[in-house]
Amino acid sequence: MRTPIVMGNWKLNGSKESVTALIKGIEAAADAAPNVEVAVCPPAIFIDQVATLCANNSIEFGAQDISTEVSGAFTGETSTVMVKEFGAKYSLVGHSERRQYHNETDALVAAKFVAIQANGLVPVLCIGETLEEREADVTKKVVETQIKAVIDLAGIEALENCVIAYEPVWAIGTGKVATSEQAQEVHAHIRSWLAEQSKVVAEKVQILYGGSVKAASAKELFAQPDIDGGLVGGAALIVEEFVGIIEGAK
Ligand code: 13P
Repeated sequence: MRTPIVMGNWKLNGSKESVTALIKGIEAAADAAPNVEVAVCPPAIFIDQVATLCANNSIEFGAQDISTEVSGAFTGETSTVMVKEFGAKYSLVGHSERRQYHNETDALVAAKFVAIQANGLVPVLCIGETLEEREADVTKKVVETQIKAVIDLAGIEALENCVIAYEPVWAIGTGKVATSEQAQEVHAHIRSWLAEQSKVVAEKVQILYGGSVKAASAKELFAQPDIDGGLVGGAALIVEEFVGIIEGAK
């Protein structure tokens, strides 16, 4: 059995005050769901604050993006070692907004994936097709290519210790959630494609769905056999919504 994960990606949102309110608002629900792992990915500057707030609850946390480098003359970057020092467990890697607005290629995403694992964090590899790609019926090929870049660099065994987040770009921040059938179809494809390379990886890896997940849609999505939780953007910033999504994963 794979433990479901409900992970909030706060993106570029929050203040000292709202971060405290959000963690205080969701911690009871997280603690009351021992069979669900709850995690948040705040902007890097709030990781210290989140670490303090989560010292005595079950909420895990991670970075939204990370440098391939550990230290040195790399202005503006945050390293795995730094976030690990604060107790982070995860780092997202390859989010479509990084791919789109920061020109992150599959090769760079793979290098970041390796850096994340090398320093003891768990990568959350984000993949997914654009609307044009879905309409051109190349969704499966796109997600295979995105995962293959990591396998080519790190080897298939590296995927034994990671999380995959399938986030169709057309569903992110648009309110257009994929239907549970659409999401399950891609998740099942990812798992069977992985199984051709390693049954252990395919069985073990948690595949989260992301893209306009709300409390109202969570339960049905998470009931699908190959959907192991969600990576949540907008609804992760609203206490009642995020709590409802945690409930949907129980
Ligand atoms: P939304 O839930 O706001 O669509 O964002 C999804 C996402 O990008 C999570 O990483």
